[in-house]
Amino acid sequence: MTAPTQHEQPWDERTAHWYASQYGDWPTTWMPIEAERWRAEESVLDIGCGTGSSLRHLLAHCPDGRLVGIEPSAAMLAIARRQTRQAGLAERIEFHCSPVEVLPLADASMDSVLAFSSYHHWQDVALGLGEVYRVLKPGGRLLLSEEPEVLERAGLNLEGIQQQLLAAGFDLQSLRRLAHGEALCALILARKPAPRI
Ligand SMILES: C[S@@+](CC[C@H](N)C(=O)[O-])C[C@H]1O[C@@H](n2cnc3c(N)ncnc32)[C@H](O)[C@@H]1O
Repeated sequence: MTAPTQHEQPWDERTAHWYASQYGDWPTTWMPIEAERWRAEESVLDIGCGTGSSLRHLLAHCPDGRLVGIEPSAAMLAIARRQTRQAGLAERIEFHCSPVEVLPLADASMDSVLAFSSYHHWQDVALGLGEVYRVLKPGGRLLLSEEPEVLERAGLNLEGIQQQLLAAGFDLQSLRRLAHGEALCALILARKPAPRI
């Protein structure tokens, strides 16, 4: 997978359509979801939600939950909204045009946050992780997945990401490697600590 690098502007129309046609439903959009357990009423935020594919997949696991996607690219968001409408799910998924660095959500409002193949695009990782931490409920989880070769091309590695998660206050729970056909990704599971009673 090739894609714009960290310092580029939000994805334009051409890039968004290229991504949607090549990778919109790539197994990396659903493998991390299938690797975890979900509650029917779970509230889930997908950061850099792309075509919205992960959230539509998640609806089967969280039919009564609040599902929210954020995207800084208006072109990508238009594709997400259109595909979700075409699937008859427009009433079930909220989309907002926003980067991770300024999340349009209340403090401690989400049970889980997804960041699938988006972390390597974030402009300000410390700010972004601070926002993820803010919107997660205590004990809430972050599922962060990246494809190894994309990470390497972006000059990042899993160890560095885990260090940044620790620095942002998260507890690291697991690191798993997932595969389906030629699709590979590493899934980091981290939690916002819950207060001890
Ligand atoms: C490789 S795509 C992944 C899309 C989707 N999560 C998936 O798995 O197919 C990366 C996405 O991250 C988004 N992105 C770029 N910068 C971002 C930022 N600062 N905050 C949140 N998302 C960002 C891009 O617009 C793009 O849709």
